[in-house]
Amino acid sequence: MDAAAPTAVSFDEASLSQLAATADRATRRNLIVSLRRMADSLEDTTGTIHRFAHLDLERAMIQIGYDLNIFKILVDADGVKTAEELAKDTGADTELIKRIMRYYNTINVAREAGPYKYVATNTTKNLISDVCKAAMGHFWDLVSKEYQALPEFLKKNGYRNPTDETDTALMMGWDTKKPPFQIMLDVPNAMEDFHQYMALRRDVTLSWLSVYPVRDVTAGLTDPDRPLYVNVGGGIGHQCAEFRAQYPNIPGRVINQDLPDTVERGIQAEGVEHMAHDFFQPQPVKGAKIYFMRGVPHDHPPHKVRVLFQQIAAAMAPDSVLLVDETVLPATGVSHIAACVDLTMMGIAAMERTEAEWRALAESAGLELVRLYTYNALDNETVMEMRLAGAKSSL
Ligand SMILES: C[S@@+](CC[C@H](N)C(=O)[O-])C[C@H]1O[C@@H](n2cnc3c(N)ncnc32)[C@H](O)[C@@H]1O
Repeated sequence: MDAAAPTAVSFDEASLSQLAATADRATRRNLIVSLRRMADSLEDTTGTIHRFAHLDLERAMIQIGYDLNIFKILVDADGVKTAEELAKDTGADTELIKRIMRYYNTINVAREAGPYKYVATNTTKNLISDVCKAAMGHFWDLVSKEYQALPEFLKKNGYRNPTDETDTALMMGWDTKKPPFQIMLDVPNAMEDFHQYMALRRDVTLSWLSVYPVRDVTAGLTDPDRPLYVNVGGGIGHQCAEFRAQYPNIPGRVINQDLPDTVERGIQAEGVEHMAHDFFQPQPVKGAKIYFMRGVPHDHPPHKVRVLFQQIAAAMAPDSVLLVDETVLPATGVSHIAACVDLTMMGIAAMERTEAEWRALAESAGLELVRLYTYNALDNETVMEMRLAGAKSSL
């Protein structure tokens, strides 16, 4: 029986693809999860070995594709490229190109269109997007050393949940005691890749601005000198620019705060001020209507988030709101992406959090978590409105 020819199993791939292409994000994501689950359930030992054993190889080969510009060349060709043509365009040996491309065919990064002929796929197209390039650079150049160090780090610390930001897997991987944003300064392109990734990683339509009642909360404001929106740890100021573009007529100052090296790279947008500020120090902008943070507390362990919240709480007026835009983890069924981000944060002694954990952190700093507005249910992305404990909501 072993020698029997394998039975070809076929199903209607074309109609499934068509259905998937026109489905909404949630349906497509669910389909991917179901298909992967089914594929894994069919796997034998050999399959499991080679699926996990070559994960590092997969990432290395993507990096080589970027270095040789293969993905862009394939997409721009808008048709078939031969191995010889790719070799000529990239300056690599034809034989090397053939070896790389036959591997890409197996991971859908390109598809064979005949012997030594290739076309772009959906994945090739995704890979050439600016956000994908910046993210891949960030994870390859900076984070990969943290992943390598994580097993040794956890063994060394006795498998305690990491909460000490002065002793982390990222530090072990880089053999340094510098904090993450200092390490980035030492790695070529790391700051640029990181801030590009942060600025581009979310579709503008999938943002707090799509769900939060900005007009209601700011109704009645008339003072052009009162700070209206302060983005704390706002990176290069992309969210301030989006806010001002969407609400050009609400009176008040729009201020982007970050570390000096980041503010130096700040984008210039009309009506947006940049300010260097360390958010663990007293907040210099007092009485703003909206203090805002996205993806900031998740970079820090609980005792540091408490300080961060306390510094903002001390600057808030009774009618101020603090909006914390973060992942809010459900008790079960956390998405693959959120689980990966959580473990990546573990490498800097930080974490993703549940609603109960956010609520407790707010309370520990004299704040009250008043309401949650989820704008991306698929990835549990939510903006949490916090107010000074006892302050009345204006809504
Ligand atoms: C994960 S990024 C988020 C950036 C931006 N909020 C966004 O969502 O695109 C965290 C930001 O916090 C900044 N940061 C880190 N430590 C800081 C500190 N002590 N004071 C001020 N900003 C800091 C970093 O430079 C970075 O821009």
